[in-house]
Amino acid sequence: MGIVSPESGSCEFAAPPRASTFRVAVLGAGGGIGQPLSLLIKMSPLVSSLNLYDIANVRGIAADLSHCNSPCRVAGFSGAAELARCLSGADVVIIPAGVPRKPGMTRDDLFTINASIVKTLVEAVADLAPTALIHIISNPVNSTVPIAAEVLKQKGVYDPRKLFGVTTLDVVRANTFLAQKKNLRLVDVDVPVIGGHAGTTILPLLSKARPATVLTGDEVEELTARIQNGGTEVVEAKAGAGSATLSMAYAAARFLESSLRGLDGDQEVYECAYVQSALTELPFFASRVKLGRKGVEAAVPADLQGLSGFEERALEALKPELRASIDKGLAFVRKEE
Ligand code: NAD
Ligand code: LMR
Repeated sequence: MGIVSPESGSCEFAAPPRASTFRVAVLGAGGGIGQPLSLLIKMSPLVSSLNLYDIANVRGIAADLSHCNSPCRVAGFSGAAELARCLSGADVVIIPAGVPRKPGMTRDDLFTINASIVKTLVEAVADLAPTALIHIISNPVNSTVPIAAEVLKQKGVYDPRKLFGVTTLDVVRANTFLAQKKNLRLVDVDVPVIGGHAGTTILPLLSKARPATVLTGDEVEELTARIQNGGTEVVEAKAGAGSATLSMAYAAARFLESSLRGLDGDQEVYECAYVQSALTELPFFASRVKLGRKGVEAAVPADLQGLSGFEERALEALKPELRASIDKGLAFVRKEE
């Protein structure tokens, strides 16, 4: 990330230039997540080109960002007629397009609108950037990722290693809340979060947290509930003005950086994400995965071994809801065939 140089007063990169740089497209770039996420991407030394797309006008946002003196080129594409040019040549496509929650809504209440948005956008990705990694942020992630998978299958370009539901915000929250509770140095804390991205389908594995941390049963229950309700905490605080945007942009930028490091050949890059999975009987499941040159290289089955009794019960309890959300997404695409 950038630092301010005392000599020039301008923003320069601390890291040396990388061997490879990548082309990234953000679909829904004009929104609450899209704008700060695009700023963070503009600062990445791993990105050479950033294409912004929205149904709303994003030319001003692209012009604004393009004045930051970091090397990445920025271009704006507005309206469906410009989507093809936006996607052409993309290595990674990030999708935060769609409506956010208001107080009292569940993520599943967004399905009616966001399912169609994600389906249409992924159809275009399948046609125009069929080998790109796809990072889905739009809710309900538990259903929008199966929707994307089904669309890609129908188009004959599905590579399960390249499709991700972005659940990094759950990990970011788990790390923050655990560090606060136990007075840990945040930089040391890492909590894997498995399952899905809605309510009790979000399952932080506090027994697997690093550094190993002793928690009472009450502390585990309290922290788990806070992590599961992190999104609702923000929705209520924003009181009708949307859901998490800045922390989500931070989380999505972290996930992009890890994905690009994997594409670039870095070893030992791990992130939690909601992906096609064989770890449980559910076809899609969030867990820690190793990221490599082609996307997901492997899941980490050890994370699901030796769970606490609380986690075992929570894992079994989340499965029916997650299965229903997956089936709803798959049925949505199949019925429109
Ligand atoms: P927002 O309303 O501020 O922005 C959404 C943007 O999408 C808008 O600019 C809108 O014009 C654009 N858009 C709508 N339809 C589009 C289409 N067909 N093509 C291109 N762009 C389109 O919303 P936000 O706060 O940025 O949230 C976006 C989504 O991300 C929501 O569904 C929200 O629930 C979800 N979200 C997910 C996570 C997560 O952890 N995965 C976290 C926070 C928010
Ligand atoms: C979140 O976890 O913040 C997002 O999924 C947005 C929401 O609706 O809670």
